[in-house]
Amino acid sequence: MSAAATGRQRLVVVGQGYVGLPLALRAAEVGYDVIGFDLDVDRVKQLSSGSSYVEDIPDERLGQALRSGRYRPTDDPRLLAGFDVAVIDVPTPLREGVPNLSHVEAAAATLGHHLRPGALVVLESTSYPGTTEELVGPILEDVSGLVAGSDFHLGYSPERIDPGNRTWTLENTPKVVSGVDERSLQSVAAFYGRLVERTVPTSGTREAELTKLLENTFRHVNIALVNELAMFAADLGIDVWEAIEAASTKPFGYLRFTPGPGVGGHCLPIDPSYLSWKVHRSLGQSFRFVELANDVNEHMPDYVVRRLMAALNRMGRPVNGAQILLLGLAYKRNTGDAREAPGTVVAQSLAALGGQVRVVDPHLSDDSCTYPMVDLTAAELEAADAVVLVTDHDAFDYDLVARHARYVLDTRNRVDGPGVERL
Ligand SMILES: NC(=O)c1ccc[n+]([C@@H]2O[C@H](COP(=O)([O-])OP(=O)(O)OC[C@H]3O[C@@H](n4cnc5c(N)ncnc54)[C@H](O)[C@@H]3O)[C@@H](O)[C@H]2O)c1
Repeated sequence: MSAAATGRQRLVVVGQGYVGLPLALRAAEVGYDVIGFDLDVDRVKQLSSGSSYVEDIPDERLGQALRSGRYRPTDDPRLLAGFDVAVIDVPTPLREGVPNLSHVEAAAATLGHHLRPGALVVLESTSYPGTTEELVGPILEDVSGLVAGSDFHLGYSPERIDPGNRTWTLENTPKVVSGVDERSLQSVAAFYGRLVERTVPTSGTREAELTKLLENTFRHVNIALVNELAMFAADLGIDVWEAIEAASTKPFGYLRFTPGPGVGGHCLPIDPSYLSWKVHRSLGQSFRFVELANDVNEHMPDYVVRRLMAALNRMGRPVNGAQILLLGLAYKRNTGDAREAPGTVVAQSLAALGGQVRVVDPHLSDDSCTYPMVDLTAAELEAADAVVLVTDHDAFDYDLVARHARYVLDTRNRVDGPGVERL
């Protein structure tokens, strides 16, 4: 039955990835007729068969949405016709340090062909301030012949989804909303008002775009701060982890960040560079905090390798030929997302030096890893000259690691024991 026949609002979500899929399902659950549009035919097939590739979305939830008839994954652009609301959730990567908005441009052009008066288009993909008004709006206008604001509504709403976080979900995380004019803002706020508990309006789309970049740059810079501190503290013989825990008892004016092997995923290594690129392009100036944070965080995998080499050296072993067991390759705890994961850089560097790298990661499938994947067993731990805890998944048995590993380089402060050295 068509949306017109059911009287339900028709929503198109362009991009069915980590961000688009949860949004599409939530919208179907509150009563929209949702088309989940994606160019990746394999992803569409997998979704249509009821199998989810996003860990936070269990197959039962996807199955329910499919059975309700209110969620339809597709790669057929003809099904976009007649939408009331469209949300763009496509990737915004960097190409040689420069924002690559080709996916956003393609998504806007596709939507432009199906845009009709009164409809709403929202960009959720992370991008530099000005993208909605300077890039998406003009493409929609050119293709459709309609005018943003007067003929159709246009807005920006940054996604704050935190994969693996069971406490803060799409529904209970406040959603920043914006529009190119007052009526667009009302329309964006009304749409998200049905999906989430609280919406937070900003006066324009640039402020909403900057909000997302501020949040991620804040995180990126603070992680770089503790990473640099960890390296100095190690040389000074001071326990940085203890200092961080002590500082975290301050009830005001301090936020806890912890060191690690580097940052990964599709947000932290990328989003701050969208902001520094915009600052440089528009003002000719460098965003020094971002550049410094990039520099520190990008060097962390090398630092981990250096620490491991020093430890093996103390044991009289070269990396060449050493058995090295990496625990966790995903960029983030309790997720199977290995995009831009610093553990991959650690593994590559060790393998390039002749290290025999094996990986334990219960969240990753064997085919997503180029190194032999093994289970975490006493035998594997005992066979390894060194174990590196890269990603501290809750599923790991840390007591087993402490009992059976000869040497552990713990980059996350999760293992206790005599053979354990922390970052
Ligand atoms: N993953 C996160 O945790 C997160 C959080 C907040 C914001 N974001 C931002 O959200 C955006 C999407 O990220 P993601 O992690 O969901 O990406 P993703 O790679 O998981 O999914 C994007 C999907 O878009 C599809 N796609 C690309 N071009 C398309 C087009 N023209 N038409 C239809 N489909 C198209 C791809 O095939 C892919 O399936 C990015 O800008 C990202 O920075 C991501």
